[in-house]
Amino acid sequence: MTFPSWPISGDREEELLRSVLKSPQWGGFHPLVQEFEQRFASGHDARFGISAFNGTVTLELALEALGVGAGHEVIVPAISFVSTASAVSRVGATPVFVDIGATSFNIHPDRIEEAIGPRTKAIIAVHFGAAFADVDRIGQIAADHNLWFIEDAAHLHGAQWNGRGAGSFGVAGSFSFQNGKVMCSGEGGILITNNEDFSRRARSIANQGRQEGESFYKHFRVGTNLRMTAFQAAVLTAQWERLEEQMARRAANVRILKALVTDVPEICWQDEPPRMTRSSWYLLCGRFHSERVTRDRFCASLIAQGVPCTPFYPHTLYQNPMYQHENCVAAPCPNAEAYIRDAFWLPHRVLLAEPDLMPAVAAAIQQACLGLQTS
Ligand SMILES: Cc1ncc(COP(=O)(O)O)c(C=O)c1O
Repeated sequence: MTFPSWPISGDREEELLRSVLKSPQWGGFHPLVQEFEQRFASGHDARFGISAFNGTVTLELALEALGVGAGHEVIVPAISFVSTASAVSRVGATPVFVDIGATSFNIHPDRIEEAIGPRTKAIIAVHFGAAFADVDRIGQIAADHNLWFIEDAAHLHGAQWNGRGAGSFGVAGSFSFQNGKVMCSGEGGILITNNEDFSRRARSIANQGRQEGESFYKHFRVGTNLRMTAFQAAVLTAQWERLEEQMARRAANVRILKALVTDVPEICWQDEPPRMTRSSWYLLCGRFHSERVTRDRFCASLIAQGVPCTPFYPHTLYQNPMYQHENCVAAPCPNAEAYIRDAFWLPHRVLLAEPDLMPAVAAAIQQACLGLQTS
């Protein structure tokens, strides 16, 4: 089985990259950067976009711009890429890890409520793999308790909840354009927001403490330089133009695949929340249960049959070596601890294949459920 390789690029990336190369500005002050920020933000129903050189510093930037730091706690899911938690630690606050839902792969709103205390300042919800965390409930919890709600939407470019873009529900939405993401520029990130004050503060921090309309050499706060280069913006502009079509292809293939993999009791796919109206399908996530076959054998069998598959993270965030000595709080997380034993994902390039390859993928999944190595 041959799947498209990733990243995908074409003439448009080359054209835009060349235009940057020929210009006198290769850095973050090239107009393409601002144009991309605007396009990406408004495409996700946000008024402002602040780009940066990756999707880890965007999380740190959001927390810093909100004044989150020493003495504060931030509630995060027990399962995510490390940045969701390390961003909290790096601004000097304490991550409070809470459990995810049994099949949502996302932070459980009830567990958030249980973890709120006098030092809680913010909630970071990750929209994991292919599905939103419950932004309605989390937004309400944050409003009721006067907390900041940040969306780590690193996986969900272009996705919508009730017709509204990912990242536009919290005070800030953070995206990553790292090499494997559905929009990528090798490295890259962006914060989007509808909060003008927040956007001014975040942009100023990311741009050496400058303020819009003021002189280049006047610095109003201790900022830093997080700016994305024009090369990144050039590639991302082209990637954005292709996103719609790729999302449609992935969504169609998911429908075909899931229809073919019914009556396979070993697999429980990640929930698709009814209010999610579009997904990026960054990862097709599932949990695997069988009396006879282990999750690792299931994944190995899929790989042997030519279908890329990744066993889930090997540990929860709080089980990482760094959180054996870094300050953190971990609530009991039985679901998260079960996921690390039984969950898996297929990467989005599998879903970018020609639709007529899906029956072969489905057959490989069925074979793998039996622990067989060949189709
Ligand atoms: C959920 C999540 N948050 C944040 C990041 C960090 O993004 P970056 O790699 O661009 O720093 C990633 C991934 O790479 C991620 O998966």
